Parts: sequence; C-alpha cells; structure tokens
Amino acid sequence: MGDAPAIELNQVTVRHGKRTVLDIDDLRLTDERIGLIGANGSGKSTLLRCLNGLVTPSSGQVRVDGLDTAQSIRQVRRKVGFVFQDPEAQIVMPTIAEEMDLGLKAQRLPSSVRRERMADALQRFGLQGREEDSAHLLSGGEKRRLTLASIFAMHPDILVMDEPTIMLDLPGRRQFRRMIDPLPQRVLIATHDLELLEGFQRVLVLDDGRIHADGSPRAAIEAYLDLVDAREAAA
Ligand SMILES: Nc1ncnc2c1ncn2[C@@H]1O[C@H](COP(=O)(O)OP(=O)(O)OP(=O)(O)O)[C@@H](O)[C@H]1O
Ligand SMILES: [Mg+2]
Repeated sequence: MGDAPAIELNQVTVRHGKRTVLDIDDLRLTDERIGLIGANGSGKSTLLRCLNGLVTPSSGQVRVDGLDTAQSIRQVRRKVGFVFQDPEAQIVMPTIAEEMDLGLKAQRLPSSVRRERMADALQRFGLQGREEDSAHLLSGGEKRRLTLASIFAMHPDILVMDEPTIMLDLPGRRQFRRMIDPLPQRVLIATHDLELLEGFQRVLVLDDGRIHADGSPRAAIEAYLDLVDAREAAA
C-alpha cells in the first residue's frame, strides 16, 4: 500500500446550467482510506464521478497518476474502479460468473488469469461456489458484494465507492468494513454512514460544492455536525 497513484484536482468546477455544483481549488489525495461526507446535493457523487471521467469538469483538471481524466479516459478507468451506489445499475449479466467475467474479458486477459482473478475475488467477498447463481436474485447485500468482487477482480489501483453501505443492515455494514480493510487499493468512499469512517486517514466535508473541512475523521465529523447545527439554527 502507499504507492497507489495520486489523485489531483486543480481549479475544478462542475456547472449544470447556471449552477456551480462543484468548486474545488486544489486537492491532492494520496491517503489510503479517504471519506467524503456532506449533505444531500453537496457534490459528493459529482466529485467521485470526476475521478474516472463519468463527469468531465466544466473547468480545471482532474488527474490520476498524472493522467487527465478528460483526455485519457480509458487509462484512467483501468486505474480507478468505480462501485455505483445502486448495484442494480451495475449488474448487467445473468449469472455471477458472467458478471465477473465481463470486465476481465474487456481487459483481454487470458482465460487462466481470468479464472484465477475470479476465484480470488469471489473468495474475498464471500461468494465462492456461487458462480452459476443468478446475479439478479441475490439479496441487496450479496449484490453489493458481487459489484465489489467484479470491480476488485480487475485490479484497479484505486477503488471509488458511492454510498456503498446504504442498503446494508448493521451486520452487513460491519462485514463490508471487514471486506475493505484488507484491500491493498486506495479506497475513496462517499457516505452518510459516519461510523464507517473510523480509522480512515482523511475525511473531506463538502458543502454546496466546496470543501468545508478536511482532516481526521473526528475533526471532519465535528465540523460537519457544527455545520448542520449552524444551518438548523439559521433556518
Ligand atoms: N446531470 C445533472 N444535471 C443537473 N444537475 C445535476 C446533475 N448532476 C448533479 N446535479 C446537481 O448537483 C448537485 C450535487 O449532486 P451530487 O449528486 O453530487 O450530490 P451528493 O452530495 O452526492 O448528494 P446525495 O447525498 O444526495 O447523494 C445536486 O444539487 C444535483 O441536483
Ligand atoms: Mg450522491
């Protein structure tokens, strides 16, 4: 760990119509575990989507390992694995094995390597032996594990996840945490699940598209709570 490529944002804005939904001066992300918190609509998903070119900045640059996401989208997507908030939006194939193989085939890996990667990822995320099961009949938590396994199998350098624990019960959230803790990748997570951020190196608080606070989980969560209190008092 520690040698995953850096993520850099320089003078980035994202505008929709007249509205600026993201406005970030300079940001360099090199920590192993990074959280992103903030109110609904504060720009978390927009920021994450900038990291693998799902959203192109209206101005400024986003670079992953020095590659501009607007120009080198294919290379950037090999480095940045993106786990969507909604597993339903990510799962497209009928069975677990076919879903896992989709990304691996796209990387043109030989079948022996694909088999190894698949077996390792299924084992890691507790889906071993279920290769032929219907992907669409899995429970919500199992679908989440399948999406993690299929992205992990592609061996990205960075894992970006948008609200990954949103549908999980307490045991499921704990299990998710145990799954991500040993991963060698840099992990970036946007979440409303503040407990998930315990032990992270760095947490950013977004407010109206801007970085309101940036620090340890404890300091960032405190800043977020103060912000929410201040907003409530002003309302
Ligand atoms: N394609 C789009 N067109 C217009 N507005 C958009 C588009 N995408 C995002 N927005 C707006 O940008 C703002 C930030 O959205 P974003 O999804 O990044 O918020 P978020 O912090 O992820 O919120 P949540 O916690 O609800 O997931 C929202 O007000 C949203 O309506
Ligand atoms: Mg979001």
